[in-house]
Amino acid sequence: MRVTIRAPRTGDEVAYAEAVRRSAEHIGRWNPVEPDALPDLMERQGSSLRTFLIVDQETGGLVGKVNVANIVMGRFCNGALGYDSFLPFAGTGRMTEGMRLVLDHCFAPLTEGGLGLHRLEINVQPDNDRSIALAKRLGFRHEGFAPRMLFLQGTWRDHERFALTAEEWPGSSAAVDGA
Ligand SMILES: CC(C)(COP(=O)(O)OP(=O)(O)OC[C@H]1O[C@@H](n2cnc3c(N)ncnc32)[C@H](O)[C@@H]1OP(=O)(O)O)[C@@H](O)C(=O)NCCC(=O)NCCS
Repeated sequence: MRVTIRAPRTGDEVAYAEAVRRSAEHIGRWNPVEPDALPDLMERQGSSLRTFLIVDQETGGLVGKVNVANIVMGRFCNGALGYDSFLPFAGTGRMTEGMRLVLDHCFAPLTEGGLGLHRLEINVQPDNDRSIALAKRLGFRHEGFAPRMLFLQGTWRDHERFALTAEEWPGSSAAVDGA
């Protein structure tokens, strides 16, 4: 493992802003570029939103940011993943490694300190090849097409929906137990 994951904390603001600015060109085509958004994001952490930073073990540099958003528990136990990778680590496989750790944490039971989720979804614009490649690499299934789903870059954008349930995630207790 070249990376670890952790929650963002006070003191990350500058490194985060620099990472987003460095990566603005590849992020900006698909997601809003918000270098100074970390304080607000930390404030909004709660039962429906959890954010993880992926950190390079060797240098401590920020590899990427992952939001587990729209978390709904009860009979749904569902969350939606949103993510950006940062230069100079984008395209080195570290984001994929970090996402695997995030998924482990999402599917781990609450009793083991995980988020206790059963289903995760990723919604991707149809021509976002790198994000679709990442979703597929992680084993996400294509579920369908959602017209005009999210307001991005000034208009309502179509999205492809991918999803994964705990039973499909290797190593999760649901995969072992079939629970
Ligand atoms: C989508 C996004 C997060 C994908 O991240 P990424 O940087 O491609 O992810 P990784 O660091 O895991 O790199 C994977 C690539 O590195 C390659 N790679 C290089 N060395 C590797 C290694 N040791 N292990 C695994 N993969 C490696 C992989 O082959 C893969 O390339 P490929 O898809 O052409 O096969 C990134 O492109 C991004 O931030 N995009 C802008 C924002 C965005 O679109 N967000 C998602 C909206 S739905």
